[in-house]
Amino acid sequence: MGFTLTDNQENADVILFNTCAIRENAENKAFGNIGWVKNLKKTNENLFIILCGCMTEQNTIIDKIKSKYGFIDLVFGTHSIHKFPKYFYETILNKNENQKKSGKNYIKETEDIITEDFPAVRNNNLKAFLPIMYGCNNFCSYCIVPYVRGRERSRNSAEIISEFKKLLENGYKDITLLGQNVNSYGKGLEENINFPKLLKKLDGFEGEYTIRFMTSHPKDATNELFDVISKSNHIAHHIHLPVQCGSNKILKEMNRKYTKESYLKIIDYAKSKIPDIVFTSDIIVGFPGETYEDFLETTDLLKKVKFASLFTFIYSPREGTPAAKLLDPISKHEKTAWLLELLKIQEEISENLHKEMIGESLKVLAESFLPETNELLCRTSGNILVEVKGKKDNIGKFLNVLITNSKKESLKGKII
Ligand code: 5AD
Ligand code: SF4
Repeated sequence: MGFTLTDNQENADVILFNTCAIRENAENKAFGNIGWVKNLKKTNENLFIILCGCMTEQNTIIDKIKSKYGFIDLVFGTHSIHKFPKYFYETILNKNENQKKSGKNYIKETEDIITEDFPAVRNNNLKAFLPIMYGCNNFCSYCIVPYVRGRERSRNSAEIISEFKKLLENGYKDITLLGQNVNSYGKGLEENINFPKLLKKLDGFEGEYTIRFMTSHPKDATNELFDVISKSNHIAHHIHLPVQCGSNKILKEMNRKYTKESYLKIIDYAKSKIPDIVFTSDIIVGFPGETYEDFLETTDLLKKVKFASLFTFIYSPREGTPAAKLLDPISKHEKTAWLLELLKIQEEISENLHKEMIGESLKVLAESFLPETNELLCRTSGNILVEVKGKKDNIGKFLNVLITNSKKESLKGKII
């Protein structure tokens, strides 16, 4: 539409906020930023402020925007992203108070569709994200995603394969398949396909590249998945498998549909098929009703699995989810203390795991160059970073390296 990008908000004629609803922090941050740019309207009366993303799919948020942030010119949700140019064009044509008074600048659509041939600007030329499905049907009791993203729907495999092939032809070396729960890929499609079968197809191209995927729900992580990974040429030996908690009582309350024991069984099977597989996970600390004893089940699980790294969160109540109605007697202060305790345990696990890798030779992808130290920042198949001395023109190449040293969060190596 003729607009170009600017790094400077003060020069912008359009400011578009893409928002996240997963935790309260993200929402507060968005509101803080939106409040700040309001002032820019004083100096640039042609400025358009636009809000999109998951936050705007919630009625309570829309009410808040209407009462406190009425200066926003256009609000649209995840279900309308493919129509953004249309709505924006209409907003430009109608940039006056009448449109806002009529409420036409609040777009509310709920149809769960898939749009193909969606143009994408990718700002990295080695690593790409490729959505394979949208939405979620799991309704974990704490999670807002199913309400803001709608029901699970998968893209046809032909569309995914064709886009994947184009990425490879354009030189991409590390492609991450995206979905809220990639393991349920294919459900509802007419073709006979599931996630392991899709992986197998994407693994079949010539050349060096890595396939990653995110996120896998443990209840759908089948033996077939690990069998396919173990026999593949390109699929990363890494699985991000959010466990959330180690207490069976809390897992049930979370509606996660697995137990600590069944989770550990998946881990054991994966290790038996892929001995060098790396596990990472998401943990929620302080779910309503969680006791310190429940929390200790989580730290026990961490010690048993030995995750390489974790994303950790303190439980954040999300209005409209079942968990938000539960009694939550533990203070934020106490939950923070638990989280710190957990992080300390995890730090030691990561450190030991990295130490054990000294002496291994691994294939890594050189992703970027650090001029200060003349080092390449590389990534292992297991998604661990390795710093090696090397030349900038190695970026984009797969290198064989010997791990010579380890740090808390990464490894050191040399090219062999
Ligand atoms: N509070 C805290 N963490 C949450 N997550 C999802 N919903 C919440 C919530 N209400 C975390 C889960 C999930 C990750 C993407 O975000 O760990 O796996
Ligand atoms: Fe949320 Fe993931 Fe559970 Fe879906 S599977 S409801 S996205 S935590």
